[in-house]
Amino acid sequence: MDIVCTDRELGIFEKIAAAAQQLDVPCYLIGGFVRDKIIGRPTKDADIVCMGDGIELAHAVASLFHPKPTVAYFKTFGTAQIKLDDFEIEFVGARKESYSQNSRKPEILPGSLEDDQNRRDFTINALAISLNKADFGTLVDPFNGLTDIERKILQTPLAPLQTFSDDPLRMMRAIRFASQLGFEIAEETFQAIRDNTHRIRIVSQERITDELNKIMLSRKPSVGWDLLFRSGLLQIIFPQMVDLHGAEYVDGKGHKDNFYHTLQVLDNISENTEDLWIRWAALLHDIGKPPTKKFEEGHGWTFHGHEVVGARMVPKIFTRLKLPLNEKMRMVQKLVLLHLRPISLTKENITDSAIRRLLFDAGEDIDHLMMLCEADITSKNPNKVKRFLKNFEMVRKRLQEVEESDKIRNWQPPISGEMIMAKFGLSPGKTVGVIKDAIREAILDGLIPNDFEAAHAFMLQKAAELNLSAVE
Ligand code: CTP
Repeated sequence: MDIVCTDRELGIFEKIAAAAQQLDVPCYLIGGFVRDKIIGRPTKDADIVCMGDGIELAHAVASLFHPKPTVAYFKTFGTAQIKLDDFEIEFVGARKESYSQNSRKPEILPGSLEDDQNRRDFTINALAISLNKADFGTLVDPFNGLTDIERKILQTPLAPLQTFSDDPLRMMRAIRFASQLGFEIAEETFQAIRDNTHRIRIVSQERITDELNKIMLSRKPSVGWDLLFRSGLLQIIFPQMVDLHGAEYVDGKGHKDNFYHTLQVLDNISENTEDLWIRWAALLHDIGKPPTKKFEEGHGWTFHGHEVVGARMVPKIFTRLKLPLNEKMRMVQKLVLLHLRPISLTKENITDSAIRRLLFDAGEDIDHLMMLCEADITSKNPNKVKRFLKNFEMVRKRLQEVEESDKIRNWQPPISGEMIMAKFGLSPGKTVGVIKDAIREAILDGLIPNDFEAAHAFMLQKAAELNLSAVE
């Protein structure tokens, strides 16, 4: 099997081969590197398995480089890593592993290449390439991983039940690879996931969320989310998403299936951005719909306030999924909260003031918000789609015009709280806030321009109404 390595990669592998030969330890390239090279995906790390001590081999390899790279090793796991600029190599001794029912802690015993390949997750990840002198470059493929790559099939090397009970995270990995690579999960393997969903509970949330983020970053993330749903895993790891599924009917009136609508929005936005957090915002934009759903006589289905309820759910979901509770989360929350606002601006006679308020509320994220709104158009009617897009185009134009004249997007109050306190001899408190808010509202309403002079004059006027007099 010819795989295309760069000269640099080949140079590194020749050094590993030389070190292994010196130690008289057979060794092989294995796992994701081999898979990705065959598929033709970019790779930035390689796994080496040896029939001996992986840590010892890593040290021997490191000695062949100048300057000598640091060897990071984990004695308990028998693994070691070397980093050569942006290329990472992981060394491990071939092993047989066995896991007890209720723990992820494996019992590790030395093994052969075959043992090691047996215990890998999927046939496409069990391919090995020899780095031994006698057969350097030969592919060792006991499970027809190569054929599975060609046929785009994900299946376990052993009976799926065994592979998944060795590490239940592999159920998520199957779905992640399907989404990332556009592969199908073999029927028997998918059935085993369905039958073993409960075992995902013993896996740490961090590992699960890593897989969710990889699904999110795949070209068409809906593939992964749909498989999570159909396997039953989603019900366990993220039940609020499952609540979006299905369409209820009353008096023959139904609403759209918000789960598949959400996935369509997510795919739409993924065509325009690689940003993980904007993609999360798309996934969560309607998450407040199930708890706000009502059937109103003579009116049909409504989801009043779902954007507010959804925004409130975001921190809880991020906490549960162990996603970061930082400015990224706040951006997601903001987009969920504001996702209906641009639609309300597509009507006739929209005032500059309404446009200024949206610029103020969305701030730096206004472009992301518009992107989300456009992705939210999932109508099958091309005329409708055309009309909605045209309306948003108009909103974008108005946003741009108002921003150019009023500079609201990165709004900083022209008069600070400190200035107000100094001017009227006030200590921090409610009155300062009242004046500050009045100035902001006056600017957003267009009563005064967004500059210091106007704001200062307005402040004096407002202070007079409050019977305050200047101390300086
Ligand atoms: N592996 C496994 N079971 C796991 C994790 C990993 O069998 N739960 C094996 C697979 O052979 C995999 C290799 O370890 O190919 C390396 O794992 P990892 O680096 O996590 O994944 P990659 O397959 O390299 O893919 P990616 O880098 O996209 O995560």
